Amino acid sequence: MKVAVIGTGYVGLVSGVVFADLGNEVICVDRDPEKLAKLRAGIPPIYEPGLEEVLKRVLANGNLVISDSVREATKSSEIVFIAVGTPAAHDGTPDLTAVTAVAHEIAAAIDKPTIVVNKSTVPVGTGEMVEQIIRTVGVPDANFSVVSNPEFLREGSALKDTLHPDRVVIGVSDSAAADKMVELHKPLGGEVIVTDVKSAELIKYASNSFLAMKISFVNALSRICEMSGANVGDVARGLGTDHRIGKQFLQAGIGWGGSCFPKDVQGMIAISELLGYDFQLMKAVWDINRQQTLHFLRRVEQRLGSLAGKRVGLLGLAFKPNTDDIRDAKSVVIIEEIARKGGKVRAYDPIAMDNVKRIHPNIEYADTAYAAADDADVLILATEWEEFRDLDPAQFKARMRQPIVFDGRRFWDRQCFVAAGFDYHTVGAI
Ligand code: UDX
Repeated sequence: MKVAVIGTGYVGLVSGVVFADLGNEVICVDRDPEKLAKLRAGIPPIYEPGLEEVLKRVLANGNLVISDSVREATKSSEIVFIAVGTPAAHDGTPDLTAVTAVAHEIAAAIDKPTIVVNKSTVPVGTGEMVEQIIRTVGVPDANFSVVSNPEFLREGSALKDTLHPDRVVIGVSDSAAADKMVELHKPLGGEVIVTDVKSAELIKYASNSFLAMKISFVNALSRICEMSGANVGDVARGLGTDHRIGKQFLQAGIGWGGSCFPKDVQGMIAISELLGYDFQLMKAVWDINRQQTLHFLRRVEQRLGSLAGKRVGLLGLAFKPNTDDIRDAKSVVIIEEIARKGGKVRAYDPIAMDNVKRIHPNIEYADTAYAAADDADVLILATEWEEFRDLDPAQFKARMRQPIVFDGRRFWDRQCFVAAGFDYHTVGAI
């Protein structure tokens, strides 16, 4: 099938590359010249395991073409995906400027029946808005249909998630477009859910809000565990083995971050408000998440007496492992709070350091995980990178001023650190 994907962020690029690898003729479009140059050279502008290999393969076999022209891409495709960013605007609602602009460009180029698919995360009603734009530009109804096809891939496992989705959601109002979309997604497997456009749009917000709620729920439990002497790891295990609840996304920690949960929870609250519903549950989910990091830092502060003049070794900067993404990363909150209280941070991350350096050039950065602990009064683990798993507590201890560790992801084995002489603290346990 001939497919165009407008926007080469996480969602657009990974989807385009996967569709191309499945044998479709794909054109990926972006307007950023730097990104285009990298992509043409086979270098993904984002870090994502396995992506470079597939990108190079589909460029070499000609299934993927990189372009800066929405017009040409639209003219030569049957299906055009809109996969541009929808960052949160000041009031928390998603900013649809890019979606609107691209919809206009696509509309101006449509000269035959074309399926316009919204893959960006957009509020309920955006499909209708895109339809209106295309109609206003003068495209006859017979020449287009607007589909909502939200994306559920996670950073760090984006290729795997795209190739093996739990479900494919297709929001559509005409059966011909539905058939084409089902055909395109057939090789991917997963349950195909064909529904109306509005429901599909809401499914994306509902999914991310629910997952964020699960984590905030377990993080709230972690506070109760700390106060009562229970252990949140065991509580979460006991909770999650009920298959109606499920084991995933019950890992207590210093809170959720990234490019989706914060934006989508905020979006869910703001969209509900616009519709006249005060979504108090999601407001609490948001607040618990914010408090979780601050509470963790208060515990560090209490243990040290004060953060002023103290040195903190910080392990992990990415918002989660296997990505260099630091959007809404809790590490950044930690860096800023510690600086505000007069402490000094020395940080290490396998791949996200350069991104943090751009916003915080004045903190210290270490070349290795061990070096982050040099002269530290406390070591904090903020991201559970697998390469941190088997680090030797004795080597940390030898470098530190005092052997105190705060494991913000419940990642390390308490006994290993205690045996090495550490005072070990974690989330949701005494
Ligand atoms: C998320 C959704 O999972 C994905 O379906 C959607 O398309 C985009 O948003 P992503 O943001 O890439 O994906 O990361 P995810 O693995 O979901 O983690 C989000 C945040 O939650 C991270 O900060 C992670 O550390 C945190 N988290 C996750 C927890 O604190 N505990 C958990 O049990 C799981």
